[in-house]
Amino acid sequence: MADWIRVCTTADCPLGEGREFVIADRVVAIFHLAEGFFALEGICPHQGGPLGRGCLQGCRVTCPWHGWQFDVRDGQHGSIASLVQPGWPVRVEGEEVWVQLQE
Ligand code: FES
Repeated sequence: MADWIRVCTTADCPLGEGREFVIADRVVAIFHLAEGFFALEGICPHQGGPLGRGCLQGCRVTCPWHGWQFDVRDGQHGSIASLVQPGWPVRVEGEEVWVQLQE
């Protein structure tokens, strides 16, 4: 069972935006939707772009390098059904955002 790791505060990632954090040698993209916070592996599977710095529209983030899109809730690629970006469970305790990083 992986440990829960504190990533940021809720204020660090405003509603409707994403942020990139490096935690335990992993690049973690945190996204803040009205329904909660979500975490994806932050390195785009196309050519390594920073998903946490992409544009978030609704539940979909667009990689800033070449425009691949992912649903931040489950990592599903916007047009390639077989491609799912890994993500991790998130919980919010008070004003702190925690992620359960798994291999
Ligand atoms: S690196 Fe993300 S779309 Fe190319």
